[in-house]
Amino acid sequence: MTETIDILIVDEVLYLQEKLKTILLKEPRLQILGECQNESEALRMTREYQPHMVVMNSDMPSFNAIELIGNLLSIDPDLLIVMVFSTASKYYIKQAMEAGVREYIIKPFTGHQMIRTLINFYDLNEGNTDGSIEKEKIKEEEENKKQDDIESKVISIFGLKGGVGKSTIAVNLAVGLARKTSKRIAIVDLDLQAGDISLMMNLFPRRTITDLSKDMHLLDEEIIEEYMSVHSTGVRVLPAPISPEASEYINSIYIEKIIKVLTKVYDYIIIDTAPSFSDVNLTALDMSHKVIFVTTLDLPSMKNVKAGLQIMDKLDYPKEKIHLVLNRNQRDLGISIRNMEKTSGKKLLAKIPEDYETSIHAINKGEPFILKNPKMPIVKNFMGLVDFFI
Ligand SMILES: Nc1ncnc2c1ncn2[C@@H]1O[C@H](COP(=O)(O)OP(=O)(O)OP(=O)(O)O)[C@@H](O)[C@H]1O
Ligand SMILES: [Mg+2]
Repeated sequence: MTETIDILIVDEVLYLQEKLKTILLKEPRLQILGECQNESEALRMTREYQPHMVVMNSDMPSFNAIELIGNLLSIDPDLLIVMVFSTASKYYIKQAMEAGVREYIIKPFTGHQMIRTLINFYDLNEGNTDGSIEKEKIKEEEENKKQDDIESKVISIFGLKGGVGKSTIAVNLAVGLARKTSKRIAIVDLDLQAGDISLMMNLFPRRTITDLSKDMHLLDEEIIEEYMSVHSTGVRVLPAPISPEASEYINSIYIEKIIKVLTKVYDYIIIDTAPSFSDVNLTALDMSHKVIFVTTLDLPSMKNVKAGLQIMDKLDYPKEKIHLVLNRNQRDLGISIRNMEKTSGKKLLAKIPEDYETSIHAINKGEPFILKNPKMPIVKNFMGLVDFFI
């Protein structure tokens, strides 16, 4: 049981290199023979170094990982290949297994889980295990399942049109929940190019999601707190990048990891989004328990709601996951609530009234209107929406 396991890492985006290097410090049985970032290097190093095992990321945009599996196995049919999937890429597991992969792990994983997966796979293959590792794995999976059951709610605020009130709803929902419950609440500002949640809450962030994306290899439940800005109500905010061009460094793999870590710490994670079906947004929507689809009563919004709901239907989102919320509701806009509900095929969960003065004042002062007099129609109405999620 003491042989070392010689490993070659294949990862275009450096995620595994970082992760396995940290793990290696704790587990002397795992030896990294080499690291490579492209197909030809992977084939060359496998021929030259003859590793026992290749640990490979499935998310490698520039080349076909499935094809590489076949090519590696034709060099060494006994090679053990472990594939690392993100939730977004887990649909390829079947394909990878058919290509010859016999073990995999889904991100995010702890160092302990990775070590156990690699050692157990190797030992099982060499026939030198008494099954105790397997039993330990089952026990830990059960533990993890229990932890996943912590009732954390991820709620994305979405809309395909700019300026309909997504950020207003994100901020007031979070602060409203903080006001009415003693739960831990986080907002993630995923409007990566033009996020203004910090501004709307009068926060001056020291760090943003850009800094976090540079430190992804360190990310865990404790570290993430260092990137959150704290509002006076206790709501914590992971702010959007300060400069729009920084958004290009933040990808859906990071977002998935960030949300997963947040669900371990917070009871509610409210995600504000930019108006599009970008990869980043899709990851957030996939991982959300609820989506608030925000609309206003106008023809472009109605068209966008219909198109957006059709896409969500194609993505197999359960109907009850998506709630339509009307913002800036007022009479005689030419389109009735009935029109909107008929076209969308959905009942409106809430109809937040038009109140330009209160809304703009709240934004300019950085004081969410939900903290104002509860008798005001917009506050009273919004509290109904907050109550729905408690
Ligand atoms: N119920 C409301 N009544 C009147 N004005 C509102 C209401 N809700 C939001 N607004 C105003 O609409 C504008 C846009 O709001 P907000 O920034 O929340 O929208 P958004 O959907 O996040 O926009 P973007 O797509 O640009 O991020 C703001 O000026 C805000 O004050
Ligand atoms: Mg916004």
